[in-house]
Amino acid sequence: MSMRFVATPTRVILKRFSPPACRFRRTAWSFTAGADDALQRICSAMLESGRRAVYCMPSFEMLRRYVRFAGAEPIEIAWPQGPLPADALIEAGRGAELLFIVSPNNPTGTVATREDLVRLRESLPGTLIALDAAYGEFADDDLTSLALSMPWTVVTRTLSKAWSSAGLRVGYAAGDVRAIDWLRAVGQPYAVSGVSLALAKALLENAEPLERKFVSRVRDERSRSHAF
Ligand SMILES: Cc1ncc(COP(=O)(O)O)c(C=O)c1O
Repeated sequence: MSMRFVATPTRVILKRFSPPACRFRRTAWSFTAGADDALQRICSAMLESGRRAVYCMPSFEMLRRYVRFAGAEPIEIAWPQGPLPADALIEAGRGAELLFIVSPNNPTGTVATREDLVRLRESLPGTLIALDAAYGEFADDDLTSLALSMPWTVVTRTLSKAWSSAGLRVGYAAGDVRAIDWLRAVGQPYAVSGVSLALAKALLENAEPLERKFVSRVRDERSRSHAF
């Protein structure tokens, strides 16, 4: 294989793969094999028997599995619809090592607000907050940049959803430098192949209008279905 695959300029990928307001200043990042790899690393790094992780349900089913694989206790807060149950999350999050916020949430499409995130961050200073922004491109207000401005907070994103490229297995975790160092330490050193990164770069360089078109179509359809 050509060494050019290995030398894929990751900054080009990150620049296009992140919301425009993200500058990655004072932020660490790491490519992962999809967002799944990032979420599992977060659990491996933060959890063990006797520790707790809090998240809402229904949500991305793998969260429960990753928390359990790490030997920790999952604390599930109901969020079937409507606003994020921030009070219940704060109550459950006291003394927990990890809090996941999936926004927009899968499968409900519910979203956390900026005010929610700020409140959670201020109320739970010792808890790592992980914002799963797998569907961030579909949100009216993508919380990634806000989350990256906060201490002890990480964000996970993926090319699997808005970019329709789940098979590439390209995602990233970004945020608090110490947390990202730990995530790097608990997984494979080169989790994403050079071929996938090269394809990701080609996709992001050439398909931006397509992504915009696709995202706006989904958002339009969502508005129409909400109108019923
Ligand atoms: C909310 C959420 N987070 C993360 C993932 C994992 O995505 P990936 O394909 O990047 O591992 C999914 C996939 O369904 C998801 O729905």
